[in-house]
Amino acid sequence: MWVHLIVTFSIISLLYLSHVFRDNEDENYCNLFQGSWVFDASYPMYNSTICPFIEKEFNCLKNGRSDHLYLKYRWQPQGCQLPGFDGRDFLQKYKGKSILFAGDSLTRDQYMSLACLLYTSVPGTNYNMTRVGLVSTLKFLDYGVTLILDRNAFLVDLVQENIGVVLKLDSVAKSANLWSNHDLLAFNTWHWWNYRGAQQPWKYIQIGNRLLKDMDRMVAFETALDTWAMWVDTNVDPAKTLVFFLGVSPSHYKGSEWNQTEVKNCAGQTEPLPGSTYPAGLPPALAVQQKVLSKMSVPVKLLDVTTLSQLRVDAHPSFYGVSQTAPDCTHWCIAGLPDIWNQLMYNLISN
Ligand SMILES: *[C@@H]1O[C@H](CO)[C@@H](O)[C@H](O)[C@H]1NC(C)=O
Ligand SMILES: *[C@@H]1O[C@H](CO)[C@@H](O)[C@H](O)[C@H]1NC(C)=O
Ligand SMILES: *[C@@H]1O[C@H](CO)[C@@H](O)[C@H](O)[C@H]1NC(C)=O
Repeated sequence: MWVHLIVTFSIISLLYLSHVFRDNEDENYCNLFQGSWVFDASYPMYNSTICPFIEKEFNCLKNGRSDHLYLKYRWQPQGCQLPGFDGRDFLQKYKGKSILFAGDSLTRDQYMSLACLLYTSVPGTNYNMTRVGLVSTLKFLDYGVTLILDRNAFLVDLVQENIGVVLKLDSVAKSANLWSNHDLLAFNTWHWWNYRGAQQPWKYIQIGNRLLKDMDRMVAFETALDTWAMWVDTNVDPAKTLVFFLGVSPSHYKGSEWNQTEVKNCAGQTEPLPGSTYPAGLPPALAVQQKVLSKMSVPVKLLDVTTLSQLRVDAHPSFYGVSQTAPDCTHWCIAGLPDIWNQLMYNLISN
């Protein structure tokens, strides 16, 4: 009797445990953003010399970068494969549709990468690229696919007034028209919130009727993101429009962050870091982005690229961007890491 009960109980426990175990092994269970970089001889995804859209800043091969190992890494999520980027499929899916990117230069990086991924999938296809002020428009004429870039570092309004340039934390009025009626929106902001001195483009911060000389930058950042989130929740129809937000893109100016205390920055790095964690951990700004997104009624997908990009100490332009003397360890070479951001975005669109 007791033996029977114990055996029965053990079987039930085992079933339960195997169930829990199986849940975690579920083929559908996979965090695409957790994993590691593996060498793959078939990379890069395209030959960047045939892509006409790459600005000098990101065009590392053209600028003479001679180590090419950084182009040969595939992102391997833990527990599943990341399907490849199919440019023709993307162009078919977005036939007659429009995609808008709004954000800082990291968004520009992502936009140019997507333009190259699409163009090189049908090389020689007809396109029309125009720029008016801070807005570029690229049309793939044979597909009717439109890619728009809004160079917009803060997302909230930056306005020239009599007293000087004012950063208005509770308004996106200047952008509302431009951002309306697209099929895919891809946003980003973070880097400019910490700029001071000559790099800081505003003189005052405004919240409601209050004008401030300065304030806690993290609080300002969150307030602005709340304003942006309110606009999305009020104006975006999630049945028509997919919305993405690019998580914090890391810079590499301090070797101690990745346990190379003797190293100043990304210059001379030729390979990604091994493993799947970054010694310095995650930047606090990412938690702010996650917090704001979690409160929204429109489901915005976070492109959670922070950790996987932290591991890519090798993927910045360094001396092969705009400056031969001050290494750029903020942006990313194209071809390169932003192609993987777009591959991840493509997979989230397809599901
Ligand atoms: C890339 O394209 C250029 C121009 O067509 C060509 O000269 C070069 O060999 C190509 N590179 C690779 C790696 O295929
Ligand atoms: C490209 O776009 C501009 C601005 O919309 C337009 O004036 C021009 O005619 C277009 N060119 C082609 C070839 O479609
Ligand atoms: C980096 O250094 C920290 C502190 O010494 C250590 O705990 C960690 O394991 C190291 N990580 C790597 C990837 O070497």
